[in-house]
Amino acid sequence: MLQIPDFIDRSAVTRHLPVLVRRRMEQYVDHINALLAVKNPRVMARMAPSAMRGLFLRVGQRGRPVEAPSRHRVYFDFDYPSDHPEMMALYEKAKRLQWNASTDLDWRTSVDPMNPEVPLLAESFIDWASLQDRGVGLHGPQRTELLHRVTAWMLSQFLHGEQGALLAAAQVTEATHFFDGKFYGATQVMDEARHVEVFRRYLDEKLERRYVVNDNLFTIIDSLMTDGRWDMKFLGMQILVEGLALGAFSTMYKMTAEPLLRELLKRVIQDEARHVRYGILALRDLYNHQLTERERAEREDWAFEIVVLMRNRFLAHELYEEGFAHLCSVREWNAVMNSSPGMSVFRTTMFKRLVPNLRAIGLLTDRVRPKYESIGLGRFIHLDATDRLTDEALLAA
Ligand SMILES: [Fe+2]
Ligand SMILES: [Fe+2]
Repeated sequence: MLQIPDFIDRSAVTRHLPVLVRRRMEQYVDHINALLAVKNPRVMARMAPSAMRGLFLRVGQRGRPVEAPSRHRVYFDFDYPSDHPEMMALYEKAKRLQWNASTDLDWRTSVDPMNPEVPLLAESFIDWASLQDRGVGLHGPQRTELLHRVTAWMLSQFLHGEQGALLAAAQVTEATHFFDGKFYGATQVMDEARHVEVFRRYLDEKLERRYVVNDNLFTIIDSLMTDGRWDMKFLGMQILVEGLALGAFSTMYKMTAEPLLRELLKRVIQDEARHVRYGILALRDLYNHQLTERERAEREDWAFEIVVLMRNRFLAHELYEEGFAHLCSVREWNAVMNSSPGMSVFRTTMFKRLVPNLRAIGLLTDRVRPKYESIGLGRFIHLDATDRLTDEALLAA
């Protein structure tokens, strides 16, 4: 039976080089299949430039700064109207609940990723039997080591998502037509900067490990950053990516015993809940009452394809490339990830947050509900949207 030698053992990598080349080809095929799974040709055409940059050119993974074209219109209002009391209330709440990442978290906490007494992630996160079935038997410290890497991978994706949120929140603040939304948006920019700060610091100081951006996450963020329409930025970032984030943070909060990480996540989740509420406030009237049928259908189709992408594509390929590409195929790895209990909790929590929010903003009409039901998400449609949930309910996952 094969054992994982060392995740970054260069001699092992060199020895298996032809296999790794074959694996890379398999990944391209995997990406092409993901794109072909997009049923709607208009959505496919809209996603194509971002998919080319993210999946095939992999510009997010080259270790260099990335520039993306931004075409949104900046909206000024020199009348300074008080135009949205609920957004103003959210702004007041956000000002009250600001926190300082440097002083409000106990960074003196000692974190030892290899200490099984305080696991970063519950061992039940991974489907070890499924890995073993594919010839990769891991035991004892090897399991702890992989859980350390999975934690670092997930937190790295949180970090990259937070950078996307920081830049998107700034764009949304420029582009929104609600003046009270600009007040609120400024607090979200600050929140997202703080989130980048805490995840970067935790990864660098406590886990001493960081992974490149997942190419599917890059594709989604690139797509909404480069869309010129303000509401698409709201929909993409405030509803879809924030929904993904809430699901991921709650899952991690539930599955980690490390106290600093738990406290950090708790505070971030409370901030994120405001961000999703803002997205619902901004889009609810527009999508329910102001768009034409055709305009709404376009947004519904786009949101559905992003949801499918989120469901199928967050499979830790960066970890696979690091330590498993010479041990099993991409298809086998995907099967292990799909059957892992932790990933299953993550997907359930994400859709529990996300799908009711799509209903709340009017993007789950009878036209698209059967599509959600066909991929097993119908059971989430009638749950409470995030604007109805308490902070405690959000933490409960
Ligand atoms: Fe955030
Ligand atoms: Fe956020």
